[in-house]
Amino acid sequence: MHVLSFESSCDETAVAVLHADGHTLTPKADVIASQIDIHRLYGGVVPEIASRAHVEAISRLTYEALDRASLSLSDIDLIAVTSHPGLIGALLVGVNFAKSLAAANGIPLVEVDHIKGHIAAAYVTHEKNEHKEVPKPPFLALVVSGGHTSVFLVEDYTRHTLLASTRDDAMGEAFDKVGRLLSLPYPAGAAFDALASEGFALYGCDVCTYKNTEAARESEWHLPSPALTGDAAPDLSFSGPKTAAVNLMNRLKQKNETVDRARFAAHFTYVAVEGVARQLSLLLDRYPGLPLVMGGGVAANSHLRRYVARLAEEKKSRLFVLPLALCGDNGTMIAAAGYYAYRNGERADSTLNASAADGI
Ligand code: KG4
Ligand code: ZN
Repeated sequence: MHVLSFESSCDETAVAVLHADGHTLTPKADVIASQIDIHRLYGGVVPEIASRAHVEAISRLTYEALDRASLSLSDIDLIAVTSHPGLIGALLVGVNFAKSLAAANGIPLVEVDHIKGHIAAAYVTHEKNEHKEVPKPPFLALVVSGGHTSVFLVEDYTRHTLLASTRDDAMGEAFDKVGRLLSLPYPAGAAFDALASEGFALYGCDVCTYKNTEAARESEWHLPSPALTGDAAPDLSFSGPKTAAVNLMNRLKQKNETVDRARFAAHFTYVAVEGVARQLSLLLDRYPGLPLVMGGGVAANSHLRRYVARLAEEKKSRLFVLPLALCGDNGTMIAAAGYYAYRNGERADSTLNASAADGI
């Protein structure tokens, strides 16, 4: 069957066509209109501007995606749309567009949770996938994005149990905000990654060996770990290290002192990555032998990839890291999650609404 999907939860309008046959999921088209250049002027996403840009792009992208897939609407068997979580105005654009298209053409409709979408991206056969095969549930999934840092037990294609999550700020949010202090353009993730590489190189180490350096042991930068302890559920909250970094920078500024940007980026990256790995390690011990899937925009981070790869090897867990093209927000992941929701008997109708809140 052919699935047409819509993703408009934040600052990217994405429309995709996916061909699904059993568990073989093949992308036919995936077009994305990024709004980053507009929001960069403001240093972050402006929700009202995001909604308007989605309205302007969505119709054009739909026809572009169908065109690339060499299909027309009459070939589409299912429409999938992100209904939550995200910016409410932005989500409403995708949801209303998808509902209208489904109703006008008599095509079944399903709603998709954006985070489940990041996980379902792992089921897609992708030319850039270095594993050449896709994971089968059960497995553990780490989703690291601008708004979420969560670990799930994926029991089945549509059954997910949340094992660890963020209480306040997610990893991507922390990289973006601290990156801004380091004069990196929004979103700072990729530039932060490169700057941290320069920092590790200056110490002659990488993120895995940084803890053995004198610099790490005697760092004047005291940042709390995002891995809070003492709770029943492992916590991955980045407000602590982010706020400590902001305060530190402000104090240095007041004293007219500067910070070595590359070394600081490396230190912050180490604290962030080590925290995530510490909680993951606990969960891999709790579920021995389960494979581990890593996705979401921040899964593009080379240091996180390296650290988690080492951890998975140590714990003898088979690791599936998503290809870069499927890490950030995209339409294919929504089509994949929508397909499995449909197989599970889920359907949405004209009463479907968007919601800003988490759903899993
Ligand atoms: O999943 P995503 O595309 O959107 C959300 O659902 O939030 O993730 C976007 C986040 C941004 O915070 C961006 O800075 C971050 O992913 N990001 C990275 C890297 N590439 C993108 N963070 C760290 N290192 C990267 N290489
Ligand atoms: Zn996302």
